[in-house]
Amino acid sequence: MPMKKKPEELRSRAWFDNPANPDMTALYLERYLNYGLTAKELQSGKPIIGIAQTGSDLSPCNRPHLELAKRVREGIREAGGIAIEFPVHPIQETGKRPTAALDRNLAYLGLVEILYGYPLDGVVLTTGCDKTTPACLMAAATVDLPAIVLTGGPMLNGWFNGERTGSGTIIWKARELLAKGEIDYQKFIELVASSAPSAGYCNTMGTATTMNSLAEALGMSLPGCAAIPAPYRERGQIAYETGKRIVDMVFEDLKPSDIITRQALENVIIVNSAIGGSTNAPIHINAIARHVGVPLEVDDWERVGGQVPLIVNLQPAGTYLGEDFHRAGGVPAVVHELMRHGLIHENALTVNGRTMGDNCHERAALDADVIRTFETALVPAAGFKVVRGNLFDSAIMKTCVISDEFRTRYLSNPQDPDAFEGRAVVFDGPEDYHQRIDDPSLNIDEHCLLFIRGTGAIGFPGSAEVVNMRAPSYLLQRNITSLPCIGDGRQSGTSGSPSILNASPEAAAGGGLALLRTGDRVRIDLLKGRADILISDEELAQRRADFQAHGGYKYPPSQTPWQEIQRGIVDQLAQGMVLKPAVKYQRVAST
Ligand code: FES
Ligand code: MG
Repeated sequence: MPMKKKPEELRSRAWFDNPANPDMTALYLERYLNYGLTAKELQSGKPIIGIAQTGSDLSPCNRPHLELAKRVREGIREAGGIAIEFPVHPIQETGKRPTAALDRNLAYLGLVEILYGYPLDGVVLTTGCDKTTPACLMAAATVDLPAIVLTGGPMLNGWFNGERTGSGTIIWKARELLAKGEIDYQKFIELVASSAPSAGYCNTMGTATTMNSLAEALGMSLPGCAAIPAPYRERGQIAYETGKRIVDMVFEDLKPSDIITRQALENVIIVNSAIGGSTNAPIHINAIARHVGVPLEVDDWERVGGQVPLIVNLQPAGTYLGEDFHRAGGVPAVVHELMRHGLIHENALTVNGRTMGDNCHERAALDADVIRTFETALVPAAGFKVVRGNLFDSAIMKTCVISDEFRTRYLSNPQDPDAFEGRAVVFDGPEDYHQRIDDPSLNIDEHCLLFIRGTGAIGFPGSAEVVNMRAPSYLLQRNITSLPCIGDGRQSGTSGSPSILNASPEAAAGGGLALLRTGDRVRIDLLKGRADILISDEELAQRRADFQAHGGYKYPPSQTPWQEIQRGIVDQLAQGMVLKPAVKYQRVAST
């Protein structure tokens, strides 16, 4: 690509080499000399490249970056830049209470301040665990400095008794076995731990592999980066190449706003259907779009991605795991197959300066069972279904994980093949669900629909991953494992439940879910995309008036300052759960 920036035009010059302001230059410069950098280096016109470090002992999923950063530095040096590594607020999906999602916007805010406020010309975003990838990309979108994604890579495949055990996904299976009394506590822990055999993040197509695959499909990482397992030698090699590449990107002035276009975002939606991506993806991708200023809505996910087949055979929708995905060709092989069917905007630009089409033309899949063709797809139309009605303005359903059991029980009435009705059983938040799900007095049977509310961005600050509720143990013993679940929270990307989730507005924001009562009849029509309480408009209006007179939906108090701050300014899941005041700040690096 053509060089657009000369060394003397680098942003970092304003800090490190500004003869018009010697006092400030000296002040900015001197402390960066005290660990061995020289003034000559810092004033030599070499780009200063940040390494946004998300790894730490607190965040095991991203811990490989502590080591990988060394290879990134070598790449940066080799290409003529200077590396400056700094920490990003840690986010560990499995370790943070009440939920790691609360921290996505906090890490975003922190990273925006760092990228804006320090002498950086470009940045390597070290991504991995679920929320770290969107947090970094959202910040890069807001600041609009040249930026490149390096993910740390998934763990090796997990195994137990000769079968693949995938992270997260195994928990949903194991908790059923525990509830049925088929395994004890000790076995439960062993089974779950078998899915985490090495450094890296979730090896399933959970939110981490989804978001890193989508970062690549967006054009923000080098081709092939997303799928390389953390312990593989190619991981260190691509870290080095990533470091080299960002230096050239600075001189080419290749910025997130050049890459994250409407076309690139549509590619992302299409790839998400093809990989069987997480239901967290629309939240995070819509947030990235909002921060870069490209219109994108929940309905785009169904319109653009609804009819795309599922071709990646990874758990939870399929069989295999991360190592298999990498060996089969990873994201470029998926894009290659999608391109054969004309579904990709091939001209979308990527961080290596080439187009998505150029990057993927020669990258056919290497294992036809792991990455299928359209002809051998696992599910013919695998995108998200958008559902709305008097319960909420929008919610989504991942149709590619609807099991045969679910289909037979709920979607096989020849008069009404895409709809089902049932008695609602309503839980207020995860604690209420955990306390009461096995309570026989609720009389839950296979004709019930389970609802959970108070679990959205405001109600459970950050929004809880709880919508995939298990059936009561007395039903599990009868082998009824999946009841329809609906809620204003999220669910883990590793869950194979066909829940209707991310309902917006949430109960705590006055959404229709707040008016629902246990015992109400609810009808879900997947063909029409409707979800309604079957009561008259008059009764609904009366309930709303009573609800408002009683002060609206009650949710637990905040436990930390950030919970309170975020609750006051956060948008709904359908709108990306962004901090509303943040959206107006765009391209701040040029201000
Ligand atoms: Fe970190 Fe799944 S828990 S990636
Ligand atoms: Mg999760």
